[in-house]
Amino acid sequence: MCGIIGYIGSKKASTILLKGLKNLEYRGYDSAGIATNHATGHIEVRKSVGKIEEIARRLNFESFEGNIGIAHTRWATHGAVTDENAHPHTDCEGKIAIVHNGIIENYRELREQLISKGHRFTSDTDSEVIAHLIEENLQYGFEDACMKAFDSLEGSYAVLALKEDEDKIVGARKDSPLVLGIAEHGVFLASDIPSFLEWTNKVVYLNNYDFIIAERGGVKVYNDGKEVSRHIDTVEWNVEEAKKGEFKHFMMKEMSEQAETIMRALQQDKNTVWDIVDEIKNAFGVFFVGCGSSYHACLAGSYLFSKVAKVHVNAVLASEFENYEHFLTDRTLVFAVSQSGETADILLAVRAAKRKESRVIGITNVVGSSLTMEGHALIMMNSGPEICVLSTKTYTSQVVLMTMLAYAVAGKYEDGLEKIGGLYLEVYNLTSRTMRDSLTTLAEILCDKWDIYLIGRGLQYTTALEAALKIKEVSYLHAEAFAGGELKHGPLALIEEGTPCIVFVSSENRSKILSNAEEVKSRGGYIIGVSSEQDDLFDFWIKVPEAEELNPIVQIIPMQVLAYELAVLRGLDPDKPRNLAKSVTVI
Ligand code: M6R
Repeated sequence: MCGIIGYIGSKKASTILLKGLKNLEYRGYDSAGIATNHATGHIEVRKSVGKIEEIARRLNFESFEGNIGIAHTRWATHGAVTDENAHPHTDCEGKIAIVHNGIIENYRELREQLISKGHRFTSDTDSEVIAHLIEENLQYGFEDACMKAFDSLEGSYAVLALKEDEDKIVGARKDSPLVLGIAEHGVFLASDIPSFLEWTNKVVYLNNYDFIIAERGGVKVYNDGKEVSRHIDTVEWNVEEAKKGEFKHFMMKEMSEQAETIMRALQQDKNTVWDIVDEIKNAFGVFFVGCGSSYHACLAGSYLFSKVAKVHVNAVLASEFENYEHFLTDRTLVFAVSQSGETADILLAVRAAKRKESRVIGITNVVGSSLTMEGHALIMMNSGPEICVLSTKTYTSQVVLMTMLAYAVAGKYEDGLEKIGGLYLEVYNLTSRTMRDSLTTLAEILCDKWDIYLIGRGLQYTTALEAALKIKEVSYLHAEAFAGGELKHGPLALIEEGTPCIVFVSSENRSKILSNAEEVKSRGGYIIGVSSEQDDLFDFWIKVPEAEELNPIVQIIPMQVLAYELAVLRGLDPDKPRNLAKSVTVI
């Protein structure tokens, strides 16, 4: 939920760290800070509450000296959003500084033990214990003190530490992401690749329990006390993909990329697809597991598998997966679906499945993420970096992958590819200026409403759920989705004069869903139709192509744009909604 980055090299650390922090801001953005090992050998820390740009100006980050440093952007878990709770944290003497992403589960006991030994704490965070633990063990030397400190931590961590007069960064990871970037002028240790992509695309994916010593002369990695060698990979992502370019916000940029990203999702190794198809056919129980938008993609997948492949799969929220554990056997197949590949609930579900010897296939977008290392097999989404906290292009890629797999299981792989490939222009047009203007008009109508309801049937119900999530997380308006048939079982009581209701129509269920819309209209509801054909019932019409089982793709894109326009009209930052973070690494 937080982002960390460290740099050691020949360039000015603060300039590099500040850029890195801006690229990491999507991971958490309530406070931030930097510590550098000053040219004169002492540690200097500046940190505060607020947005990085503004903190950097106020605390004059650029004026930091030194070319070794660590930095952090925070999404609060333990302790309020205050200057004291911002990272980096230091020991009693201010000689050691650390940044941490993760959760230290045994921090209370550790803190009490350290206080009884005379340590003075200045924050309410779980992370501060790490600095004091290192201090407590300093008689063994900095590196061993770090190793001993990290060994006593329970929970998850990616941690970086600096000490005055030590020309190095010491780091470690357990169940939180940490990647190494190798540039000609220095070395990076960071939560993700885009944070340092501007300087290098040479990366090393670190394993759980890796302990790293980064010095000017090179990097050493240890695991289980022994030095290990790790492979250097070259990533394909380019810097432009991780920048806003001509767009005002990443959200708009990423929505506009969908014609391309959908095609990239289709670029899978055929043999891998066939192997997965065999696994699905031979499995005794298939689960699609995800959180938030990824869960909605799983749900769409379960409808698609029923419709196209005639195969039963269970879509389950990762946070609820433990309730299904007794159904898992060595013949169960679990698809773990996660854009970031770091979502704590997903990783717990993966581990639960592996304990029962079930097969796990990860579907993720982030190269080198924990999910890429923990599953038995892998499908990459190939969407490129998604910086906005909201999933947009990665959601449609997940739905594309589900559709492609359903077609492959049905023995119609090539048909599926052709059908999805045929969507390119349609998808491109869904974020066109004309479409955006129409959705801005609708956003003006909706932006002062208290509640927005959304209804659909079958696949369109899953789109209604995802559209409601998009609207609420970015515009803070209450948006709630129902299956059309459920209205009369309670939700109709909510409809008043002018209550907006967005209705997702497909040729297959047109008459049924329009009859549900009629129920809303006759109680004063304002009907917004998302369909290929106009209808007298509609007070507002969003025209989309009829794409049958691909409707979840073409119908969600205008809803993403609507959510964006609502946020902009309400003066909100679509890329960084309040209280949310891109990678949810806590349960
Ligand atoms: O990285 P993941 O796909 O595992 O993330 C799951 C959810 O946290 C994510 O989809 C979240 O709901 C987004 N904010 C949706 O826009």
